[in-house]
Amino acid sequence: MKTILITGGAGFIGSNFVRYLYEKYPKYRLLVLDALTYAGSVRNLPESGFDSERFQFWYGNVRNGELVDSLVSQSDMVVHFAAETHVTRSIYDNFQFFETDVIGTQVVANAVLKYRNRVELFVHISTSEVYGSATTPLMSEEHPLNPMSPYAAAKCGADRLVHSYWATYGLPTVIVRPFNNFGPHQHLEKLVPRFITSCLLGEPLRLHGDGQASRDWMYVGDHCHALDLILHAPPKKMAGQVLNIGTGVSYSISDIAKVVKDLMGTPEIPIRFIDPRAGQVFRHTADTSRIQHLLDWKPKTSFEEGLQKTIEWYRGNSDWWKPQLWMREIPLTTPAGTRAIH
Ligand SMILES: NC(=O)c1ccc[n+]([C@@H]2O[C@H](COP(=O)([O-])OP(=O)(O)OC[C@H]3O[C@@H](n4cnc5c(N)ncnc54)[C@H](O)[C@@H]3O)[C@@H](O)[C@H]2O)c1
Repeated sequence: MKTILITGGAGFIGSNFVRYLYEKYPKYRLLVLDALTYAGSVRNLPESGFDSERFQFWYGNVRNGELVDSLVSQSDMVVHFAAETHVTRSIYDNFQFFETDVIGTQVVANAVLKYRNRVELFVHISTSEVYGSATTPLMSEEHPLNPMSPYAAAKCGADRLVHSYWATYGLPTVIVRPFNNFGPHQHLEKLVPRFITSCLLGEPLRLHGDGQASRDWMYVGDHCHALDLILHAPPKKMAGQVLNIGTGVSYSISDIAKVVKDLMGTPEIPIRFIDPRAGQVFRHTADTSRIQHLLDWKPKTSFEEGLQKTIEWYRGNSDWWKPQLWMREIPLTTPAGTRAIH
């Protein structure tokens, strides 16, 4: 029986991955460590998990070395998602971002180093935000790292820290750089759920700048599938890899607003343009040839299909998202010096 430690497993992507593993691999033991910040919830975890011997939830902080050591010492693999993740929040207070994303990663990496004889693979979830705005139409793993926001800078620090543990100590690390994800259980502060719930509530959609900033949007189920392949490839083949995960296609924020409105049957909902967000990345599209070549992975879910599934989930789960409504708006001072709601 394999034991997998998942940090940040009560958040959006982490919990999708925990449910994926829990359903697909009944013989695996899953340890979930999560500090249950505003972004995490035990309601995201598999319902029957709490009665199961092969599932343990640990309410705790990734900066707690003793706790992390004890969990890593029991694990064959570690998948590290835990992070502060909202770019806009990192603009007005980045303290927790560096504490959790950088120092938290150092704690996890140190525990893996301590128990290197036990741990076969340490998968660090980085982000495409480490690249900053694209200098080439498709961004490969060799694209320069030019983080544009404190969130991206913290994640970049963590990304390079993990790289250094591979280079210095030969730890079996994989750095995954996912592009934008969407799907069920994503916090309402993020764009896609914000648009969907605005349509459900009949409110205007708020778009930053001119709405032309474009990103590569991937359905979270495809991300889980890629991580599954990474965990099940020979660890020697994976060690030291840096892998983009995305679709290779980008959509502007305006495109997304339009598709969401159309799919939800609410084309009449108006769009309200607000000030551009500082630290905005303008174009982001993945070159995924490396993971395609190594693991024969390609996303299976089209953008519309993924959005449809996501819309259905938010339609059916208003009791999950209604308490988050007040967190959709973040007051910020804009580059022009005015106060705006982002
Ligand atoms: N969502 C995306 O589009 C996206 C894209 C690329 C990369 N990522 C990365 O994927 C990972 C997961 O992102 P997400 O969207 O699921 O984030 P999220 O904000 O939904 O979840 C983060 C989880 O980490 C937990 N957490 C925060 N601080 C912690 C701490 N100190 N100790 C333990 N747990 C802590 C939270 O409680 C929450 O459950 C992050 O590392 C993020 O940087 C996300």
